[in-house]
Amino acid sequence: MSGLFIAIEGIDGVGKSTQVERLAARFEQVGRTVLKVREPGGTTFGESVRDLLLRQEEIEIAPEAQMLLFLASRVELWRQEIAPALESGQVVISDRFHLSTIVYQGIAGALGEARVTAVCAEILGDRRPDLSLVLELPAAVARQRLGTELDRFERGPGFLELVASGFAVTKGIPGDRIERISAEGTPDEVEARLSKVVSDVVS
Ligand code: TYD
Repeated sequence: MSGLFIAIEGIDGVGKSTQVERLAARFEQVGRTVLKVREPGGTTFGESVRDLLLRQEEIEIAPEAQMLLFLASRVELWRQEIAPALESGQVVISDRFHLSTIVYQGIAGALGEARVTAVCAEILGDRRPDLSLVLELPAAVARQRLGTELDRFERGPGFLELVASGFAVTKGIPGDRIERISAEGTPDEVEARLSKVVSDVVS
């Protein structure tokens, strides 16, 4: 059986981690082995990068360096975890992947979409999801769900709105398959929409 790589994307507060769990359970029910990963992170190196980027906010990191750190974490995650899983026919589900970099650092951040997309394409090549599912929610609703739990990438005024509109328009790297799904309503409703899209694409 061939491997399958799905990324779940979207702004914080859309319920990505819940849907990663539910999608994984659906694949497991039909006998597939599933590897769940998250970005940044998923390897010892990647978790250190995560800590540096998301927890050690007193350390200043230039926008280009932030982008490169996200990509460095991703390359290691691919080498150590994703590639072996796909080679053995597993389903890999990632909480975020390269669309997050294009949207956060490119469209909403300082670097611009074209530049970040080009760097992602150059560094990643074909090491990308077969399918990226973008969960969409108005930024105001996500902000309410999140309360005060915003990190350095989300805190600026209007930033979540910019990220939400970035996810709504990005085409990713040429060749990417992106499907957008409304994240409004209950987790069950979102799961139903998401699994319909996945079964349409996978079958
Ligand atoms: P996430 O793991 O969703 O955060 P949390 O632990 O709060 O649930 O995401 C981490 C943060 O990093 C989020 O604000 C988005 C940001 N991010 C980028 O800016 N670029 C990237 O390439 C990735 C993967 C995440």
